Amino acid sequence: MIGDRLSSPARHVIVVGSGKGGVGKSTVSLNLAVALAQAGHAAGLLDADLYGPSIPLMVGLTKHRWNEQWTLARAGRQRKLAPVLRHGLKIASAGFILGEDQPMGLQGIAAQSLISQLVRDVAWGELDFLVVDIPPGTSDVQQMIVKTVPTSGAVIVITPQYVAHLDARKAVQMYRQAGVPVLGAIENMGPLRCPHCGEPIEVFPAVPESRSVWAMGVEKLASVPLDPELSRSGDEGVPLVESRPDSPQAAAFREVARKLAAMLGAPGRAS
Ligand SMILES: Nc1ncnc2c1ncn2[C@@H]1O[C@H](COP(=O)(O)OP(=O)(O)OP(=O)(O)O)[C@@H](O)[C@H]1O
Ligand SMILES: [Mg+2]
Repeated sequence: MIGDRLSSPARHVIVVGSGKGGVGKSTVSLNLAVALAQAGHAAGLLDADLYGPSIPLMVGLTKHRWNEQWTLARAGRQRKLAPVLRHGLKIASAGFILGEDQPMGLQGIAAQSLISQLVRDVAWGELDFLVVDIPPGTSDVQQMIVKTVPTSGAVIVITPQYVAHLDARKAVQMYRQAGVPVLGAIENMGPLRCPHCGEPIEVFPAVPESRSVWAMGVEKLASVPLDPELSRSGDEGVPLVESRPDSPQAAAFREVARKLAAMLGAPGRAS
């Protein structure tokens, strides 16, 4: 039923959302989840982007399919789907159900039932954190996700662009109206460092403060610059926090993980 709330698959579920598409939600979700795992938390990553699941590519699992398990689970002959173990995470993705180039046509109740299955029918085990990567926007599917999945808080991803802030403000309102605390926002694709002189290059014009998400009292959790390595790491299937742990970007993701764990009352076992 629309609005039926599931029981929580983890001590804390963190939804990573944005208003605008393509701002780096999946990149942030993955690196944040791996940073939480590196800090000693039992962490999972749920790719709930039914319409463009990109986590399989970002973790090198484009061929992984749940075909048989899925059929058995749907027929009620197998209760749980096995998450994939990668980079210290338990991972489930809508992409494990679809073919690589197959579009997802689900809407309404069918979309909700798929999300419910990804939360309820995956053998998540005991998780401290489940990071949920959701589709862009603030339409019914995002609203359905926050109403269905018990969520400790939302992290918003924005780029330093006017349009990204305008759309993110709507997302902040959507979470607040649903009673989901907005834990903060990550500014992604910030000024690029010139590889020759090291000077920051401001790619986008400044955003008027009064129209930004910061003007809504949202905390800035980190600023992650535009970085070709970050994009490459996604395409190559190895998260940057693992492939380049010494980079400032990896440090930023670890810092966000530390802040969120502290906010939610789950200090890292390794810290
Ligand atoms: N800081 C960054 N520097 C360079 N490239 C980046 C950065 N963050 C993300 N990217 C790249 O930008 C593209 C979009 O990122 P990503 O898929 O994470 O965004 P998204 O918000 O999840 O998109 P969608 O709304 O389509 O789900 C990817 O190719 C990714 O590798
Ligand atoms: Mg995405």
